[in-house]
Amino acid sequence: MPLKVGLVGCGAIGAEIAKAIDTGVIDADLVAVCDHNPATAKALIESLQHKPVKSRLEDLVTLSDVVVEAASQKAVPAIARAVLVKGKKLMIMSVGALASPELFQEVKNLAKEHDSRVYIPSGAISGLDALKSASIGTIRKVSLTTTKNPSGLKGAPYILEKKIDLDALTGPTLIFEGSAAEAVKAFPANVNVAATLYLAAGGSDVRVVVVADPNIHVNRHEIVVEGDFGRISTRVENVPSPRNPRTSYLAALSAIATLRSIMEAVKIGT
Ligand SMILES: NC(=O)c1ccc[n+]([C@@H]2O[C@H](COP(=O)([O-])OP(=O)(O)OC[C@H]3O[C@@H](n4cnc5c(N)ncnc54)[C@H](O)[C@@H]3O)[C@@H](O)[C@H]2O)c1
Repeated sequence: MPLKVGLVGCGAIGAEIAKAIDTGVIDADLVAVCDHNPATAKALIESLQHKPVKSRLEDLVTLSDVVVEAASQKAVPAIARAVLVKGKKLMIMSVGALASPELFQEVKNLAKEHDSRVYIPSGAISGLDALKSASIGTIRKVSLTTTKNPSGLKGAPYILEKKIDLDALTGPTLIFEGSAAEAVKAFPANVNVAATLYLAAGGSDVRVVVVADPNIHVNRHEIVVEGDFGRISTRVENVPSPRNPRTSYLAALSAIATLRSIMEAVKIGT
């Protein structure tokens, strides 16, 4: 029986997942979608061959085996509670929300209590497999340097609060430096990967640097991990999603790969 998927958030990532299901890249049925913006949900449904219903969150949960959150950090607590108390599987894209230790603990408790599962895709970064292995031992340092075109940072709370004039930049400029928890609050739509790293590293501090560079047209993530195992250094240069320059195309592909892996008999990688 194909997996029944419900999708919350029909934007850049949601639309790619829906398309992958519709074209058979994932052996699943997209049964229901919802979006804050009814026009966005309607446009997605119209673009698909096999049409899901547009429904409220509660009905979407009832119809689904697995619910994909591809909406926003703010949406995560309500979605997680609605899905997990029903014992349904949940995939979270707005991982920044889980940088809150209280919410992460609640999500873990709910999943255990209701015999459910929560999936957090690697998103737009590489190296999470090795980091998970390394975190079995001692980790001394995890750092993430994210470099984006200023257009991908526009509207972020930190940019507005600090009144940073992104249009005035002429070269690479350090915009932010802080912890993963600070980074996901400052840039909720940009550095979800900081929270993913933080969770994969078992709560080790992750130092995050955000650089804006008007001459770059990829979303670059550079990760360094040091510990008893040795040293990892990875660098990904992501093509931004044409629908949303803040989101990397690889993040959508990672969500698709994670959904496929839920049903795979053989799991490859850590
Ligand atoms: N984990 C990662 O590596 C990674 C990478 C990129 C983006 N993200 C995050 O994934 C999420 C989706 O990204 P995107 O690029 O598709 O964003 P997007 O802005 O293109 O789409 C989000 C959609 O969700 C809808 N939405 C927002 N809040 C909602 C709610 N409470 N209920 C229903 N619908 C709601 C919006 O109307 C919009 O259509 C964002 O939070 C983004 O920050 C994570």
